[in-house]
Amino acid sequence: MSQKGFFILFEGPDRSGKTTQVNMLSGFLKENGFKVIVTREPGGTEVSEKIRDLLLDPKNKISPLCELFLYEASRAQHVFEKIKPALDEGHIVICDRFTIATEAYQGYGRNIDLKTVRLLNDIATMGLKPDLVIGFDISDEEYKKRKRNEVDRIEMESDKFRERVNSAYSHIFREMKNVFLVDASKSVEDIHEKIKKEVLKRINGF
Ligand code: TMP
Repeated sequence: MSQKGFFILFEGPDRSGKTTQVNMLSGFLKENGFKVIVTREPGGTEVSEKIRDLLLDPKNKISPLCELFLYEASRAQHVFEKIKPALDEGHIVICDRFTIATEAYQGYGRNIDLKTVRLLNDIATMGLKPDLVIGFDISDEEYKKRKRNEVDRIEMESDKFRERVNSAYSHIFREMKNVFLVDASKSVEDIHEKIKKEVLKRINGF
């Protein structure tokens, strides 16, 4: 670990239940006296949230490259202003999506060269990497069951786009070392228990 804090990243396709689990984990850690910062991407700072609004508004027509730069711009501000300082102060930072999302959505989803995506990720994060990734796996069947009434610009994409993104996540997770995989079809409580155990094990002595 390069800093005093501990950086936990939640990643996975839309509708996989990440945000619910982010809130449950942060509640549990706070109750147990840990200093926790919860944040998300795109977003997390005033400027980054403004960029989020641009990115997710279905009225906006955005080219793939412009979309990539906006996600990275939002990230650069987020890392600089919020994540890095919190880690330097010794907080546990829990982030809902980060660089893996850009590989999955802009790299595999939009077919932008992965080398370009990874280079921009490295620049925007100043090389910062999560200490632990909680990765959510969701089947196509389960995804379709969890229909939402309101969808954002990215969720309005075609089924083909979503299938590329969802299978990219499975592929990326299987290639990674520090990922704890979660089956999104299990109950909310069951998933929370598993995540809690893994996180306590990993932050032991923190
Ligand atoms: P969410 O907050 O509901 O997860 O919405 C964010 C949307 O943005 C989601 O559809 C995934 C997408 N996204 C990207 O396409 N690239 C990225 O780098 C990130 C962080 C999110």
